Amino acid sequence: MPETSAPPEPILKKDMGRALISAERIAKRVEEMGREISEVYADIDTPLVLVVILKGATVFAADLLRSLSIPAELEFVSAASYGSGTSPGKLRLAHMVEGPLVGRHVLLIEDIIDSGRTVSAIEKRLRRLKPASLRLAALLDRPARREVDTRIDFTGFVIPDRFVIGYGLDYAGLYRELPGIYTLT
Ligand code: IMP
Ligand code: MG
Repeated sequence: MPETSAPPEPILKKDMGRALISAERIAKRVEEMGREISEVYADIDTPLVLVVILKGATVFAADLLRSLSIPAELEFVSAASYGSGTSPGKLRLAHMVEGPLVGRHVLLIEDIIDSGRTVSAIEKRLRRLKPASLRLAALLDRPARREVDTRIDFTGFVIPDRFVIGYGLDYAGLYRELPGIYTLT
């Protein structure tokens, strides 16, 4: 994403226009997702492991975690690109989960699925840790730019081909604090 351009001027919350997805709609949808996920995993005999992809998914994960009615643990992974521009598809994991995942039910939590490269690389690494199951929950799905076939088990919203910020999603490290999701224009 556009990390090479100069950081934009911070936009204050009071100056934001109409949200693409309001805080209220997000809250409602995340509650629904929490119920759906709790039903799917109702019968597992170990706590669900939420593996949150840093940093964008942390806000979504914090709300989703509190909407679950089943026990869950939290783990984090962080993906970073190798070099700059040379092989854009190559990802390395800057942080990997700390606990063992053998035989555990794992739910990967991501903010937005764009090309699909980030989750596909992370899923590949997580599968090596032999979880009992591995599913994906994404707040946003932007299918227009998909490059890697990606199965999303729990989707919050499907969005058009626009760059978005807020509710954890950033542009040049900024705007994660916005309570709704906005397009950057
Ligand atoms: P993918 O690997 O192309 O699917 O990209 C997913 C990652 O790119 C996400 O984890 C986000 O951090 C970032 N990203 C993609 N689109 C956006 C956006 O519209 N706003 C903010 N971050 C984005
Ligand atoms: Mg991300």
